[in-house]
Amino acid sequence: MTGTVVLGMQWGDEGKGKIVDLISPSFDAVVRYQGGHNAGHTVRFGDRHFALHLIPSGILRPDTRCVLGNGMVVHPQAFLDEIDRLESLGVSTGGRLFVSERAHLLLDLHVAVDIARENAMGDFKIGTTSRGIGPAYEAKVARSGLRLGDLWSADFEGLLEERLARQVRDLGAAVDLATVVAETRSRAEVWRTRLRPYVCSTTELLNDWLDAGRRLLFESAQGTLLDVDHGTYPFVTSSNATAGYAATGSGVPPTAIEGVVGVLKAYTTRVGSGPFPTELMDSAGEKIRKRGNEFGTTTGRPRRCGWLDLVGARYARRVNGVSAIALTKLDVLDSVDEIPVCVAYRLDGVVTRDLPSDIDALARIEPEWEVVPGWRRDTAGLVEFADLPAAARSYVELIEERVGAPVTMISTGPRREETILRRGLGAAVTSAAPASETRDAF
Ligand code: IMP
Repeated sequence: MTGTVVLGMQWGDEGKGKIVDLISPSFDAVVRYQGGHNAGHTVRFGDRHFALHLIPSGILRPDTRCVLGNGMVVHPQAFLDEIDRLESLGVSTGGRLFVSERAHLLLDLHVAVDIARENAMGDFKIGTTSRGIGPAYEAKVARSGLRLGDLWSADFEGLLEERLARQVRDLGAAVDLATVVAETRSRAEVWRTRLRPYVCSTTELLNDWLDAGRRLLFESAQGTLLDVDHGTYPFVTSSNATAGYAATGSGVPPTAIEGVVGVLKAYTTRVGSGPFPTELMDSAGEKIRKRGNEFGTTTGRPRRCGWLDLVGARYARRVNGVSAIALTKLDVLDSVDEIPVCVAYRLDGVVTRDLPSDIDALARIEPEWEVVPGWRRDTAGLVEFADLPAAARSYVELIEERVGAPVTMISTGPRREETILRRGLGAAVTSAAPASETRDAF
């Protein structure tokens, strides 16, 4: 079988975009399976710099097909704007970008509800990206959602009126229903024309590709600790960012997935509210934020920063079946004298290596630290593991030992080239296929 998942092992922003971009030449197609334009992937190569929100970063490789799976919620205008931006930068999407007819439409109505709710929640707000993600998934699960394929339904008009009436009522939207219906009807005219080349049954497409032996890379957005089931609920996103959903959110069988690459940042960040046991509230956090340029790609918000949490990382390894770790932003720690790492939690006096599900318990956790020496040397841009200072190599080995998976890639800078690929680690490298591997023409 030929599927590999790339996902985040923390609260998102681990640098998945770069890893997907790096390994995508070994795959025929890159598939997103959840979330929407709340995601933000930054990819840099040479002097070029791209920020992607809906479209997988594989689009930057001219021979790679890209798919937005049925598990996603798609804001049509955001999708079209992204295509226009890519085309204006010389990246062509024609004939290699596909969107599931089963994916749900994310409408401006959902954005308005998301923002109004957050404003009303005061101190209890989630800190969403204000993109309407939660309300769009609510409509889907309440069976009042509109799907992309509905745009071509013979009864589109009937669906529009009935579904939007239910959505406005159930979501408690402070909008005028007749105006929302009229606006959506008129925008749908444009969407029908412009989206036609992209919308299809991606379930059939992906299964045909699998039957033909094509290799698929599933690109998750957000991170394990933001997963609606497995994350720090309720401070999570509204979809499943974990590996299991790669199958459901794209329509391929779970048996198609042979490997899971977990992307882990060498420290921890989080945007939005919610528990964060290793958070730094002092100047050390500020230093990491500056040096790591920790500001959101989608919203520009400063990210909360903290030390590496190996309890969370081990949990992510287990929940997802991570077979290989891609460690990112190691160079951001270059100037730190001593690096505290959280190796266990203390909860009400009891030491545990499990992540509690209860939000109050999560807020009470005290980290058990192990302090390791920093390396105090420049590692930016290194491409050989052996060239890393001994203390940096020990840091990597500590992660491997405590998390329980090999670190097969280490990112030492934002560019494609600034990466250590550790070959010779056996099967784990196959699932994090090195970029030099060749593949057949499609
Ligand atoms: P939503 O996905 O916009 O509903 O936001 C829910 C939570 O997920 C908030 O804490 C957001 O900051 C967080 N979130 C959503 N997308 C991302 C992402 O791509 N990176 C990091 N955090 C995200």
